[in-house]
Parts: sequence; C-alpha cells; structure tokens
Amino acid sequence: MDVVSSGQACGAAVTGVDLSQPLSDTVVADIRAAWLEHHVLAFPDQRLTDDDLERFTLYFGPFGEDPFIAPLPGREHVLAIRREADERAPLFAENWHTDWSFQEHPPQGTCLYGIAIPPTGGDTLYANQHAALDAMPAKLRGKIDGKMAIHSAKNAYAPDGTYGEADAAKGRSMDIRPSNEAEATQLHAIIRKHPETGREGLYSCIGYIAGIEGMSQEDALPLLMELYEWQTRDAFVYRHRWQPNMLVMWDNRSVLHRATGGYEGHARLLHRTTIGSA
Ligand code: SIN
Repeated sequence: MDVVSSGQACGAAVTGVDLSQPLSDTVVADIRAAWLEHHVLAFPDQRLTDDDLERFTLYFGPFGEDPFIAPLPGREHVLAIRREADERAPLFAENWHTDWSFQEHPPQGTCLYGIAIPPTGGDTLYANQHAALDAMPAKLRGKIDGKMAIHSAKNAYAPDGTYGEADAAKGRSMDIRPSNEAEATQLHAIIRKHPETGREGLYSCIGYIAGIEGMSQEDALPLLMELYEWQTRDAFVYRHRWQPNMLVMWDNRSVLHRATGGYEGHARLLHRTTIGSA
C-alpha cells in the first residue's frame, strides 16, 4: 500500500489496495494509521458495490445513525448525495460542518464513493482542525478555552430550517426528511482531544453549533463567527478533486468539510456511509 500526502493541510491518496476484496487486519491497521495521520484518505480506481462500501465501513467501526436523510431503497446504511444536471435547489452541504456533531456520540468518520463525477467543479473542501488550533492566536484561544458548545441540527433540518419544508418545493433530488427532532441540543467541548491520537483540535463549527453554554446569544454568536473565520482559513484547507470510482474517508473528529458547486449542467452522484462512534 502506498500513501502519498496531498501536500496541503491534510489529505493523502492511497493506492496498492483493492477495496472490493476483504482486507486483512494488517491492511486495516495500516489504513487506520494513515487516516489518523492525514485525516482524509482518497482511494482512486476502486470498483465498489454498495456491499463493498458497507464492508469497508465496518472495518473502522459500527454504522453511524444517519438522521434526516433517507437511505437508498433496500439499504439501511447507504445515502445518496445526489444532484441532477438541471437541479435548481441550493447546493447540499455547502456550509462548513462536521457530520452529525449534534449527536451525543457523533460519528468517527464518513465514507463517500464517487459514482457520477462532473468534469469540472464539485470538489469537497476539508479544514484541518488540529492545524487550526495549533496556529490559533492566544487571544482567540483564551476566549474559547474550557467552553462547551451547544450543538443542534435545527438550522439545517428543523421544518423551518435550510432543508425544511420550504426546501422540498425547490425540486431537490435528495430525499431529505426535516423533523422537529432537529431542535434537540447536545453539548461538546469546543477544544477537545482526539479520542485516538490525543491530539487537541477544534470540534465542529457554527454550521451545527447554535450557542455556547453559559453565554448570551449576543456574546456567543460573534465569537462563533470569529472562530469560524479562523477555522476555515485557506491555510488549513485541503481541496479534494474527485474522480469516478474514488472512495474518500474522512475523520469527523479532525476536520470540517463542505461541498462546492461549479458543475451546472452536469449530474453528480456519490454514495455515503457513516462510521459510528466506537
Ligand atoms: C457531505 O457533506 O456529505 C457531502 C460533501 C460533498 O458533496 O462534497
């Protein structure tokens, strides 16, 4: 197996392994070590069925729980990230976020497999949150040290959220199911240690953070915006360019991510699984 760093803030390409076949414990351990080092791994030229994608996911943890998006028909754990060539709905997942950080036990990681990839655009961006914390000015760090963030899916998936009832009328091809359950909140430390490497990093961002425990919204929101601007600076970002038949796995404990557009007139389809908390 060869692992070649992207040369950017995180990310590496992995070749020399066939993910359509069962993997030995040694290979799984090597992939896990590379994942913890680079946070985002891309495996080009993999011909995978949904069964292969599920098998690969389960080498790294149980399936995570995916609320608000219906799985593919006949599958419990595979979601379609889909956009039709003529779709006019706002882009899905264009804001920086960490998958499902509003859960009590958020997922370790996410796997995304490219099926229909447009000739240009549609890159996914990743922001390394260990690097963002390491380089953070002491003054900003002092404002967030020891603070607990209030996470919630309400701005995205409540009936009046971005993907709520009004969104359904925009002709979105993804099967999103808004719900009042999105109003629930969950606390997580803003600065926390990665559970496997022990490395400190920033966890999640204003995409799913609705406030800060013990602070008024008047004080918390400007601080969350200041933090967001720092977390997503170009210096911490890896731009991932997709190819068909490429699998990417990212570590939600280490990176933020977001989708980008720029492929109007072309369809884009990827299948996604979630690596649950260990
Ligand atoms: C996602 O956030 O799961 C989707 C990312 C993308 O479409 O690039």
